[in-house]
Amino acid sequence: LIGPNGAGKTTMFDLLAGSILPTSGNILLNGVRVSGEAAHLRIGRGLGRTFQIPRPLPNLTLIENIMLAAQGQAGERLLANFVTPWRVAAQE
Ligand SMILES: Nc1ncnc2c1ncn2[C@@H]1O[C@H](COP(=O)(O)OP(=O)(O)OP(=O)(O)O)[C@@H](O)[C@H]1O
Ligand SMILES: [Mg+2]
Repeated sequence: LIGPNGAGKTTMFDLLAGSILPTSGNILLNGVRVSGEAAHLRIGRGLGRTFQIPRPLPNLTLIENIMLAAQGQAGERLLANFVTPWRVAAQE
């Protein structure tokens, strides 16, 4: 997506990701209308985004920032870290 400053690139990404809602028209993801859907539901459909500042939490590393969005991981369960640490590591 190419255009000069103010052309609307970020606005387009905000619309696709669900940060802002369109006043008209539809956004389809794999044939499913997602225009009115909240951002976290679109993430569940596999639609992720990054920002121009990729480290919103500066005291964490880049990979730790990205891991914040990957929920439902095996490593979130205490026992899994001891019983299947290789699985936790592979998923991370
Ligand atoms: N609904 C709207 N009505 C009028 N103006 C709007 C609306 N939505 C966005 N704009 C304006 O359109 C312009 C689009 O800016 P945007 O930040 O999307 O451009 P950009 O291509 O990402 O620019 P840059 O290269 O500087 O990042 C901005 O000036 C924004 O304020
Ligand atoms: Mg921009």
